[in-house]
Amino acid sequence: MYNWDDPIEEALNKPEVAKTAPVIQETKEIEKSSTNAVTPNNISEQGYTGMEDLEQGASRIQVDDKAIINCRADLNQLIPFKYEWAWQKYLNGSANHWMPEEIPMHDDIKLWQDPKGLTEDERKIVEINLGFFSTADSLVANNLVLAVYKHITNPECRQYLLRQAFEEAIHTHAYTYCVQSLGLDEGKIFNMYREIPAVATKAEWALPFTQSLGDPSFRTGSFENNQRLLRDLVAFYVVFEGIFFYVGFTQILSMGRRNKLTGVAQQFQYILRDESMHMNFGIDVINQIKLENPDLWTDEFQSEMIDLIKTGVDLEIRYAYDTMPKPILGINAKFYEEYIKFIANRRLVQVGLPEQYPGATNPFEWMSEIMDLKKEKNFFETRVTEYQTGGGLNTDGI
Ligand SMILES: [Fe+2]
Ligand SMILES: [Fe+2]
Repeated sequence: MYNWDDPIEEALNKPEVAKTAPVIQETKEIEKSSTNAVTPNNISEQGYTGMEDLEQGASRIQVDDKAIINCRADLNQLIPFKYEWAWQKYLNGSANHWMPEEIPMHDDIKLWQDPKGLTEDERKIVEINLGFFSTADSLVANNLVLAVYKHITNPECRQYLLRQAFEEAIHTHAYTYCVQSLGLDEGKIFNMYREIPAVATKAEWALPFTQSLGDPSFRTGSFENNQRLLRDLVAFYVVFEGIFFYVGFTQILSMGRRNKLTGVAQQFQYILRDESMHMNFGIDVINQIKLENPDLWTDEFQSEMIDLIKTGVDLEIRYAYDTMPKPILGINAKFYEEYIKFIANRRLVQVGLPEQYPGATNPFEWMSEIMDLKKEKNFFETRVTEYQTGGGLNTDGI
């Protein structure tokens, strides 16, 4: 179970990879018995997507017929479950449902309208983060719906992907709600990803990964294409959602801790909770694909993934310096450098890669605590209880 008191520590625990040893064995069995087995050199094989013709009278789906990618069983049958962890995450996400309008914004509006309410630097931090996040979540949603969903051939995982896609819509909704509540210049905020280098660089970095899978004729099944999908999953789940969000989250949550813009901060707090689930789901999927297709995880691919993550770290550190050229809220960009390296080490370990930043420490331990919604007073209390039908707050973390 997830420990909300220390989500980062929890993330260090082994991802919930299902049936570790048996899965490899079962996959090998399937490969042996199939004339369409996926092998590194079998480039003619194509992964199913769920759009194939129905096969009337076909034999019933057995649990071991299922696979995360390149499954050849009917993809429309959720049960029998093979990956309980994916179904559980779908339940947890649903149990934590929330909507942006449920968070009161009156105090934020008053503070924003008060000329002395916030410093210029504080206003800038809020605007630039709303600028980054308001479009970043659309990029994640596009990647899910237009690239990833088609090629993840397990119904339990697809069920979670649909939940995640809706949550991304809620996040974009939340940022829009903040922009509109505060009366910000909408054109300025929503164009930042094309006009402000600190924001644009991260979006620009991510787009090619989606584009790589966006070709309508793209299919998994070959060694090269399976790696392309895996690369996209690492880029989005580990780097984009697992690293690129964390300077912005910390900056906005720092304001909330100082009792400034608490409504905006609460929106971000809920989003952070959702994002940590997304990232943990992605890491479980990546690890399961590795187990089922160990040939993909070559030394060369591993060092490429390390470079990918290190580039993400560099970009996020740059974002910290660009958005925080001088100390603000008792924090300076140097803190973020340490924090991002600390987080990156955790992400690397979670996907089975070696730490790249020895000795990096966490200067924001309160980030773990701030995620513990149960400790918050007067914070969305009734709805959290109401929605917590399955004890869903205790399962995932940073
Ligand atoms: Fe999101
Ligand atoms: Fe997300």
